Amino acid sequence: MIKLGVVGTGGMANSHAKAFSAIPGVKLVACCDIDAARARSFGEKWNIPGVHTDYRRMFAVEKLDAVTNVTIDAAHAPVSTAAIKRGLDVLCEKPLGVTLAEARRMRDLAVRKKVVHMVNFSYRRSSGLQAAAKYVRDGGIGRVLHVESSYLQSWLSQPAWGDWRTKAAFTWRLSTKHGSGGVLGDVGCHILDMTAFLCGDIRSIFCDLKTFDKGVRGNRLGEYVLDANDSCVMTVEFANGAIGTVHTTRWATGQMNSLRTRVWGDQGAVEVDLDRSYDEYRVVRGKKAMLAAEWKTVACKPAPTMYQRFVRAVKSRRNDPSDFVNGAKVQAYLHCGFESARRGRPVKVVF
Ligand SMILES: NC(=O)c1ccc[n+]([C@@H]2O[C@H](COP(=O)([O-])OP(=O)(O)OC[C@H]3O[C@@H](n4cnc5c(N)ncnc54)[C@H](O)[C@@H]3O)[C@@H](O)[C@H]2O)c1
Repeated sequence: MIKLGVVGTGGMANSHAKAFSAIPGVKLVACCDIDAARARSFGEKWNIPGVHTDYRRMFAVEKLDAVTNVTIDAAHAPVSTAAIKRGLDVLCEKPLGVTLAEARRMRDLAVRKKVVHMVNFSYRRSSGLQAAAKYVRDGGIGRVLHVESSYLQSWLSQPAWGDWRTKAAFTWRLSTKHGSGGVLGDVGCHILDMTAFLCGDIRSIFCDLKTFDKGVRGNRLGEYVLDANDSCVMTVEFANGAIGTVHTTRWATGQMNSLRTRVWGDQGAVEVDLDRSYDEYRVVRGKKAMLAAEWKTVACKPAPTMYQRFVRAVKSRRNDPSDFVNGAKVQAYLHCGFESARRGRPVKVVF
């Protein structure tokens, strides 16, 4: 039985609790949030006996094997570091840290301590993405030349997920002082991970970031200064020589949460569009299809979730590919994005 503790009991923690509760051999034994009422109601909802407001105390008094860290981005490093120092296996929410230096320290510590370490790049669970990545890697579309990737959300322009002016899960995401990297840090990390998973490492990034006026007096909501970027456009070059665009925004009215990548090679093309399905990809390949520009849909068998993969890693003591080493890599892409936007020129990626 894996005894699991949950740190951070906001919105996303419910997805973690639901998923882990359904996996045989896992028991949720403790949870923690700095907001005591939130921690208490979470504990009641998910039938978790140990309820805490200080993760250090929770790690000291509870008998845990593993921790899932679902705190705000700024708390990922302190919480995961404290857990690893106690020898606990960690599933950490994305992005791994707030800065590249922090992410590298987390990676190095996790590797040194030989715990199981994983970052929840949740879209990696898409079997369509996994199969398309293998197809590209195996040379299915020939030499990769050109890539187009986007992650589109709309919660600043359409209130389908609630009002960003009042919902706590949105306000910290708008403020750099509260550790947010804006749309680039929040979901740009997902689309950069998906793109690199499909096409290989990125070696240089040219990035433009924009923080649009939101029509709020003084550009602040109480303690939250609304200074985090909300639109991001990048051009990237891959280690294999291909080039591409990656963009993401919170202003894409009409899109809820849309991730799509298209990759063109000299012998074909693939597309992964998670709005269509998590369990398929599309491909153009072969003389006839290329003459007619005909896309074929390839159906794939659903793959394990990231939570199932974490449990598998804990049991087998073998890290999942979405480990802290990959998490620090994605953090390097974020770092280069910020640096490039600041300097106004492309920046080479150093992992
Ligand atoms: N993988 C995904 O697809 C995905 C989706 C949504 C959110 N996330 C990530 O999950 C994390 C949480 O996001 P959310 O939407 O649930 O936000 P949220 O604001 O709803 O929840 C965050 C919770 O963390 C708590 N917290 C902050 N500091 C803490 C600390 N030091 N100790 C204990 N608790 C602390 C807050 O009080 C809050 O309850 C973020 O890192 C976000 O990037 C990932």
